[in-house]
Formats: sequence, C-alpha cells, structure tokens
Amino acid sequence: MCGIVGYIGNRKVINVLMNGLKRMEYRGYDSAGICVLENDDLITLKKKGKVSELESLVDESSFDSTIGIAHTRWATHGFPNDINAHPHSDNSGNISIVHNGIIENYMSLKQGLIQSGYTFKSDTDTEVLAVYIGALYEKTNDLEHAVRLALSEVVGTFGLLVLSKTEPEKIIGARRGSPMVLGVGDDEYILASDATAIIQYTKQVIYLSDNEMAIISKDGFTTKTIDNKATKNTIHEIEFNIEQLEKGGYEHFMLKEIFEQPTTIQDAFTGRLLADKGNIKLGGLSVVSEKLRNAKRIIITACGTSWHAGLVGEYMIEQLAGIPVEVEYASEFRYRNPVLYPDDVVFAISQSGETADTLAAVHEAKQKGCTVLGIVNVVGSSIARETDAGIYIHAGPEIGVASTKAFTSQLAVLSLLALYLGRMKNLSQLDGKKIAQEILQIPDKIKSIFDHSDEIRAIAKEYSSAKNFIYLGRGYNFPVALEGALKLKEISYIHAEGYPAAEMKHGPIALIDENMPVVFIATHDEIYHKIISNIEEVRARKGKVIAIANEGDTEIARVANHVIYIPETIPMLTPILSVIPLQLLAYYMALELDRTIDQPRNLAKSVTVE
Ligand code: AGP
Ligand code: GLU
Repeated sequence: MCGIVGYIGNRKVINVLMNGLKRMEYRGYDSAGICVLENDDLITLKKKGKVSELESLVDESSFDSTIGIAHTRWATHGFPNDINAHPHSDNSGNISIVHNGIIENYMSLKQGLIQSGYTFKSDTDTEVLAVYIGALYEKTNDLEHAVRLALSEVVGTFGLLVLSKTEPEKIIGARRGSPMVLGVGDDEYILASDATAIIQYTKQVIYLSDNEMAIISKDGFTTKTIDNKATKNTIHEIEFNIEQLEKGGYEHFMLKEIFEQPTTIQDAFTGRLLADKGNIKLGGLSVVSEKLRNAKRIIITACGTSWHAGLVGEYMIEQLAGIPVEVEYASEFRYRNPVLYPDDVVFAISQSGETADTLAAVHEAKQKGCTVLGIVNVVGSSIARETDAGIYIHAGPEIGVASTKAFTSQLAVLSLLALYLGRMKNLSQLDGKKIAQEILQIPDKIKSIFDHSDEIRAIAKEYSSAKNFIYLGRGYNFPVALEGALKLKEISYIHAEGYPAAEMKHGPIALIDENMPVVFIATHDEIYHKIISNIEEVRARKGKVIAIANEGDTEIARVANHVIYIPETIPMLTPILSVIPLQLLAYYMALELDRTIDQPRNLAKSVTVE
C-alpha cells in the first residue's frame, strides 16, 4: 500500500511532490507528508487524513527547494495520526525516510536501539528503520553504505526513499517486495511507487527490480543491488497518457471507469481475436505454447476481484479446452505448501501486478518448477516482470479503489485464453468462430446496459437504507454474485453476501425476511428455471427480489420486484454483461449514502503488504 515519491531536478519540488501525492492517493489515504531540503535544512510537514489535509498545511509559495520526498500512507503499524505519518527521521534529524511496506523484525531492532539509547516518537515500523539507518550512519559516515547495511538486516518489504541534509545532493531509493519506478528526465529524476506520479515530467521510466537500489542526483542516476553490485536497466516508455488519470467530467473515477468498459473491453480483444478464423493470437504466450498444450492442469491464483475473475476463467477454460482448472486465493496458496507439478501451468491474475500475496504465490509456483504466467493490467509491474510470460489486459490506469473495468477486461482476456486453449485442443473452427462473433458484440451490448442507469439509480434509492444484501447466481453467474456483493461492501459499507443460488437453502435462507433485498442474476441458460425456483423460495419468505435478466424475458417480472434487463449472449460471456448493473447498483447506493466512493475507508488500491 501507500505511495511514495522523491524528486531531484530543477523544478520546485513542492509542486512535484504535492502533485505526485494527489496522483497516488488511491494507493493509501490515512495520512500524507513531505520532507524537503530547504536552505540546508530538512523541513517536514505531515498530516493525518487525505492529501487535501496536508495541502491546507503547505504554503507552496514559501518553498524554493528542488529536492524532497513524500508519502501517502495506508497504515499497517500504528494508528493513522499525525505522528505516525511519514516521513520519519532518525534521532539526529539529519535523515528523513518514506517507506511503503512492513519491517517485520522492527520489534527486535527497536529493542536493540532503545538499549543503545535511541528514542522513538511514533508506533511505526518505519521509524525504526529511520533510526537504524541513522545509527549506522553515525558509524560509517556514508549514507549509501548505512542504507545498504540496514536493509541487509531488515526482514520484510520496503519501497524506501532516503534524504539527508549531510549528503544533500542525492536521494537513495531501494525496493524489496514493494514497487518502485525511476523516471528519467532531462537533468531531473523522480522515484515513485508508480508511474502516475511521474508521467507529467517524463515518459521514460525504469522499473526497479527486487533488491535493487537507485541513487539519483541532479547529474544522473546509478542503480545497483542492495549488496552493491551494478545492475543494467532498460528504459521503457509509459504507455498511458495523462488524460487517463483525470476524471474526464465524471463525478468519480469509478463511474468513469464503469463507462469506459465498452472501450477497454475492445482494447483487450484488438489484435488478438481473429474472428474470421475462429482463432486467437496471444503474442505474449507464444514462448510457452507447448507448455500450455501439454498442461495437465491449470491453477489460477489471485485476490479479491481478480480471484472472482479467476473463478469465471475456471468455467471458461474447462468448458472450451477440457483442461482441469483450480482457483486459489493467493494468500492461502502461498502458505499451504501446495502440491504442484512441473507440467502445471499457473496463472496469476492481478490488476496492479503488485499484490503481495499474488506475487508470493508466483514465487512459490516458480520455485516448484511450474510455468507461471500473468494476466496483469499495470505494465512493468512486479507480477508482469516476474512471471515467465503473460497477457496484459490493457484496461488503462484504474484509479477507483473498487475494481470495475479491470474485472471485465480480465474476463475478456480469460475468454480469449479459453478459446486459444480450446482451439489447441478439440474445439472446432466453427465453434471458435461462433464464440468470436459473440465476443465482438460485447462492447455494444455493454453500451446498451448504460441506458438502464436511471432505473438502477432508482432501485439504489429505494434500498439504500437496507442493512444487508444477498447476491445469488448459478454457474457462470455465481462469481458475478460474489463480485456484486464485494462491490457493495467496499464502497457503500452495506453488508452483503454472495452465494451460489442453490446454496441458499443450506443456510442463508434463514436470513430472508421482508427487509432482505436479494439480487438474483437470472440470465437465460440451461439452469434458468432452477433459478426461477430459487426466486420463488425467496418471495415465499417475503424477501425483496432484484433480478438481472435477459431482454425478452417475459417470465421474470412475475416473480421479481425489480428487473434490470441486459442483452443476451452465450453463457461464458454473460458475466461481462451481468456485472455491469451490479457495479452501477453499488455505485449509486454509495452515492445515496454519500460515501467517499473512489477511496473507501480502510482500503487501498493495491495491497502490497500481507
Ligand atoms: C477490488 O474492488 C478490490 N479493491 C480488491 O479486492 C482487489 O481486487 C484485490 O486487492 C486484488 O488486487 P489486484 O488485482 O491488483 O491484484
Ligand atoms: N508500515 C508502514 C506504516 O504503517 C508503511 C505502511 C505503508 O506502506 O503505507 O506506516
């Protein structure tokens, strides 16, 4: 979690830092802080709350400095308050650091430092690292050496920036397990957790690797490993543009991202779907095509919304390619010593490409000799780089903390993958063509769902005082039920459960009464009539039914209190459509309740800590 940014160059650093914090605020918003080197002194300002709170403290015109660091926090150790806000400094006040991650052995380090007479102001693990670097600096008188020594003792994860007034011409950055990108401009350099803080100044970036450091000064930069071996780097060009980081007239990023889906889905297909041949071209997988052909089993691992996409992927791949698929929460997979074979293919799905548990699952699978592939949005992210190969979903920057367009693009890519694998196996060209034709129609079908926005908003208004919700779906729509419930929980804080509809009678039915809204995803497929029976069961207990059904369904209005109609497609593609009204329902519900939609409480966009 958290965003860090450090700049050295010729611009007024205060503007670069404040702008960077605003761009990265989606990464964490418990507190924000800056430290700049102004007239040979370190000036630190930090404040609990959003970046706007810090802004009210900072008079940008009173700073001339061109070097500084900044942080927006998602608290792991210590309450979100002013004192625990970063930057933190060592005991001498000569060194200031910002940190993303967790120092797991901070307790033992802290006790040792206290015994040696060092003191602490905050409850954070980060301050321990700052004081420790300061203690080592007293001995070595060499900042870089002190940082390297400290980091070799640290257990845990860090994206770290270090600024010192005794070595004022540089910023030292280092990473292990947390992301860091180096922006390379003309006589200016910027280190940040992600490219959103960099793009305004340069599009040239280097993605630092794990255990790599970067030392930036006005004259240039060097990179090396934490144990002091020179590293080689490639400069990449940032692929998105600055407009994609703006709300573009929408009230929230989430709404903008929901409405972007016809385009983002199209971007996921373009160049890959060879519709007239019923084939798929996935350039990123060409190096592993034999592994895929011979795979006895596919394992998909992910967290949260990406895990829901994985569940849909399981059904798609098993249906089209007949390869057994297992879907695992990355957080469980990494610690349960899973039984893996070298001919297993593991897919890690992640929007950010930085989720700590998913990254650890990638490492676990690699260590056990599997082929490990990524389905990732953020170009150059850790998972994208550490997997053997992969497929980018090309959804563009997703800023709203609640994932929307990344989910549907993940589904789109998974449908391509299933078709690709199916055609490698027994799926006929004719069947391939039929599916491809359906895929091509998805963007327009999504557009038509937006015509129902006002109806969905009215439903949200009617139910916004509900305390609980149940979401039910079967088959391909079961993961959609989970995703719909997650969206509602995340941004409206209304408790919601997603279940396979048939499971309802094994327990959750006890919850149904006249106050319980139940969202059914009841699109046409072979189990449609079963789900109608499930709806009747809810109605018999006075539950309120909101159904997502196909246009032309004349039966459903008889049993449901509300119906939101979506166009029909083949079952495997239905989730891409059926999730859209659920995203909108969650959004409008949160709007009714006046929630901070893009930055829901306690959450952050990418979970780079365990
Ligand atoms: C989605 O709305 C959530 N904020 C969250 O569950 C997210 O999907 C999860 O943290 C995984 O993130 P990733 O896709 O970036 O790995
Ligand atoms: N562990 C540190 C803290 O709680 C850093 C958390 C972060 O990544 O924002 O302050």
